[in-house]
Amino acid sequence: MRDAPHFFSAARRAHAVRCLALALAHAAGAGLLHACDGPQSALAPAGPDAREIATLFWWMTGGACVAWVAVMALSAYAVFHAPGEHDRAKTRLFVLGGGALIPTVVLTALLLYGLPMIPPLLAHSERENGAGARVYVTGEQWWWRVRYELPDGARFELANELRIPVGVRVPLWLDSPDVIHAFWVPSLAGKMDMIPGRVTRAALEADRPGVFLGACAEYCGSAHAQMRFHVVAMEPAAYADWLVAQQQPAAAPGDPIARAGERLFHSLGCGACHAVRGSAARGTVGPDLTHVGSRLAIASAVLGNGVEGFARWLEHTHELKPGVHMPSYGMVDQRDLGAISVYLEGLQ
Ligand code: CUA
Repeated sequence: MRDAPHFFSAARRAHAVRCLALALAHAAGAGLLHACDGPQSALAPAGPDAREIATLFWWMTGGACVAWVAVMALSAYAVFHAPGEHDRAKTRLFVLGGGALIPTVVLTALLLYGLPMIPPLLAHSERENGAGARVYVTGEQWWWRVRYELPDGARFELANELRIPVGVRVPLWLDSPDVIHAFWVPSLAGKMDMIPGRVTRAALEADRPGVFLGACAEYCGSAHAQMRFHVVAMEPAAYADWLVAQQQPAAAPGDPIARAGERLFHSLGCGACHAVRGSAARGTVGPDLTHVGSRLAIASAVLGNGVEGFARWLEHTHELKPGVHMPSYGMVDQRDLGAISVYLEGLQ
């Protein structure tokens, strides 16, 4: 037996070295996570909840790295060490220690660290409501219906945009009429499912002003990937002004093109699905457009706000959002589409 060729030939060792080098390169690739910052990243937290989640993520990553290094070390040991030289008692200790003891200790420690985080993250008592309004978000196919209800009974609706004051916790009431969506603003909080037939709760808190991107985090149909929204964290005074402005009805269009656009908007039947408060348009199927011109984006943050964006949306509705319930208005004369766009953009 002693004269049998060594199982771990030079070629095999070279292969093992290449594998280890590849594994190290993958670990270095984790450094690319640094690219994950910006307005939609759980690794660039802008609020206390997101910060807790990011800390937990880094602890879990640390734990995973320790496990990875240990496994790689054991792999190297197994590859470079010839068989037949092992003490049975030591081997058993190795298997029990590495296979049962260490995973149990590491996973229990992470569990004990992570579990107590959950209740505060799910806390959303109304007493803490710093928004001065109840905020309801409904996941529609495929956009976000946002309703604010003020203590004095006033209410308004908008779409694909939430505004919150900086430094206070804003509880949310979430639901969906048909399919399951998930509400997620990675920079501010964890995700929460929106389930037909029940109301789920979440909360948002930002500790600095800014614009953060949210997305649907549960596959919900053909335009799932086009279901995004903005959360704008504002200084309290600016937020209070915004609340007042949103309650106002739409201003009557000033210039002749916008007025022509308004007439076309009504004659084409847009008001059957959309509401423009202060006008005859009272539809509730689609987004409320009362102040659509003041929003950061349109079509669930698929297009930038502006005359060009509206025109593109009206003409290419189904290419931009496959399966959307709104019909495309590509058959309407370009000049008329332009006029409607001017009208919509003017709804500040
Ligand atoms: Cu809504 Cu995915």
